[in-house]
Amino acid sequence: MSDPATLSAAPALDLDRVRACFPALDQPTIFFENAGGSQVPRVVADAMRDYMLSTYVQLNAPYEVSRRSTAVVNDAHAFINTIMNGHGIGHTILSSSSTTLCYMLADAYGRILAPGDEVVVADTAHEANRGPWLRLADRGIVLKHWHADPATGACTMDALDAVLTDRTRIVAFPQVSNLLGEIVDVPAITARVHAAGAKVVVDGVAYAPHRPIDVAAWGVDWYVYSTYKVYGPHMGALFGRDEAIDELPRPNHAFLPRDMVPYAFELGGANHEGCAGLLALGRYLSIVTGRDESAPADRATVVDAFERMGAAELPLQSRLMSYLSSRDDVRIVGPGHGEASRVATMSFRHATRSSRSIAESVCARGVAIRFGHMYAYALCRRMGIDTSDGVVRVSLAHYNTMDEMDRLIAVLDEVM
Ligand SMILES: Cc1ncc(COP(=O)(O)O)c(C=O)c1O
Repeated sequence: MSDPATLSAAPALDLDRVRACFPALDQPTIFFENAGGSQVPRVVADAMRDYMLSTYVQLNAPYEVSRRSTAVVNDAHAFINTIMNGHGIGHTILSSSSTTLCYMLADAYGRILAPGDEVVVADTAHEANRGPWLRLADRGIVLKHWHADPATGACTMDALDAVLTDRTRIVAFPQVSNLLGEIVDVPAITARVHAAGAKVVVDGVAYAPHRPIDVAAWGVDWYVYSTYKVYGPHMGALFGRDEAIDELPRPNHAFLPRDMVPYAFELGGANHEGCAGLLALGRYLSIVTGRDESAPADRATVVDAFERMGAAELPLQSRLMSYLSSRDDVRIVGPGHGEASRVATMSFRHATRSSRSIAESVCARGVAIRFGHMYAYALCRRMGIDTSDGVVRVSLAHYNTMDEMDRLIAVLDEVM
């Protein structure tokens, strides 16, 4: 889990420099729907275009352009493994989305688990890390639910203890619910699950845009996030620890050597131009930290960049949370504060107005937000939230400004 003290000590972002990297921000719309998908810096989009216009050939052929395309795809895998902090302990598999990766993973486990083995799924999970596991019931796997407290939405350690048994093989849960925004204690949960002899599959999608990922420190077996929510192309990335990878059957072509990881897990391979974009994200992270953007971004740059991003969001999330807390006609869904133990993904419901009508009115005034269950369908049901209307969700990224937040609050004030 991110240390709040470390975050508040992070050096400030040069916001003008950061914003100048995102051409999409140069338009009247204010983007507060970043948990849906973030904007991309120009260096990322340019790298994808350049790759397609100069290096768009198949990998592993014995000519120069193919050698370059192969290097881009390999280097992108290595760079995302640096983002994960997975070097020396595991590999990062790329695909089109986190949902695809979770289905691939659950299917692979479905082939080695025995009938009667148990898989635990958290109520807080996005459907991407829930549905694939629930389907294993068809193969005789027993599904158990790590229930959330209906009042707070939180999945407690006690509730976890209540479902772990000596047949538990997998526990699937999010590091941050994309409805609640709270950062859960991944190392503590992982230690508890490992003590029961099971593995964790952590959905880091709602966490990854806001803080450094550290699979090594947290001890997780599997960790997935969506690169299109982290200033990159529309792809998903899954870290797997070597011991976890070793025991699984390979979903890609049967003739491939078992040790051809991650390719043996990438059905049809990764998106090549997307890999060019992922690699160029390193240049953006260097810009964020004020380092030389032509040098490859190392782990220290990654950590520095994400800490600066998370720290830059704190004053804005605090401002919105204190505004929402000051209203007695608003129910905050998730922790009612803006401190560093939550990320800047904030949800609420209004006492009398529908989430739809609020979101539509706010959007009509040029501020992009969203309403609905956000695919945290099980959590909404558990919390008694009407899934057809869901919550109003405001989600920030580091490139948002306090002026934009003031504008949102003025609009919310008018609308509510
Ligand atoms: C928390 C969370 N998990 C998983 C996903 C699914 O990601 P993808 O679109 O890459 O399948 C999302 C998408 O919104 C999400 O917010």
